[in-house]
Amino acid sequence: MPSRLLLALANQQGLANFSMESSALRPMVLRFVAGEELTDAVGVTRDLNARGIRIALDHLGENTTDQESARTAVAAYREALGAIVAEVLDANISVKLTAMGLDISDAVAKENLRAALDTARAHDIFVRVDMEASAYTGRTLEVIHHVHAAGCTNTGPVIQAYLYRSAHDVDRLVEAGIRVRLCKGAYNEAPNVAFRRKRDTDRNYVRLMETLLERGVYPAIATHDEDIIDHAREFARARGITPDRFEFQMLYGVRRDLQESLVAAGYNMRVYLPYGAQWYPYLVRRMAERPANLAFVVGSMARDKQLSGVG
Ligand code: FDA
Repeated sequence: MPSRLLLALANQQGLANFSMESSALRPMVLRFVAGEELTDAVGVTRDLNARGIRIALDHLGENTTDQESARTAVAAYREALGAIVAEVLDANISVKLTAMGLDISDAVAKENLRAALDTARAHDIFVRVDMEASAYTGRTLEVIHHVHAAGCTNTGPVIQAYLYRSAHDVDRLVEAGIRVRLCKGAYNEAPNVAFRRKRDTDRNYVRLMETLLERGVYPAIATHDEDIIDHAREFARARGITPDRFEFQMLYGVRRDLQESLVAAGYNMRVYLPYGAQWYPYLVRRMAERPANLAFVVGSMARDKQLSGVG
């Protein structure tokens, strides 16, 4: 499970003002984030496409509380879609409903999602809706079921294996023919909604993954867990589920060796590539998944202080 203490830092606005220009943080940020501009993400996408890796572009940003900011988020998503088309990239996009106004109302988020989906559909591009903290799970899924039933079929959510509710949610999504990305879950959740022990989450992940591989529509198996990846490969092989019927997904900056070996073995691989100025909460979640990453940051900051002679 992600470290709770570190996840608490994600909400510290003071820390969020760190600039990427800070020499101490920059290498760490750039390990996980393409850069602050769309052009940075386009450059990385081209490189990874050339290695046979597809991309999910993520314009970083969460929790808008006014209509204007929500519209700005939609404009950024549309700009990313435009770049995919103009640069002929093998990519789709990932969006967050809180960036598109879910904190304002379900109706605003729904309308903004539909606007992004319409632009994407004109170019046959899929739009993944990331899953955020559990307070949003039910509403996020309702928005997706609603737009999908209304004919916007180029979208699907993320399901988090640490939530108790996920087996039920997966059944409903499979029933509706909606594409799912399965992950373990990256937020700080209470024990009444989520498994506390990693082995329970892992067991649930495998159970949900088997359901999606057998009955889902082109599921995305999003994990860097080698045991689970091996299990997926063996499970699919044993049941005659060919590699073109699902894809593996990983985060930019994590297990590049494994990404490349899966491509070499003939599997579809998509890398989640964030970019934009609001990288702070994303970076904190990556550190919480693997606190060793934090040691790297603290080490660089300490070195930076020594170099600059600050006491
Ligand atoms: P686990 O945490 O067990 O890690 C397995 C191994 O992977 C580790 O031993 C380590 O080697 C490596 N690893 C994992 N995380 C690392 C890191 N940060 N740095 C370095 N090495 C690391 N979550 C969510 O709540 N909502 C969402 O929408 C998404 N979307 C999403 C998309 C994609 C494409 C991926 C891959 C993941 C997400 N996640 C997410 C994040 C997910 O919930 C989870 O927190 C991370 O993927 C880490 O879990 P693993 O499955 O990799 O397993």
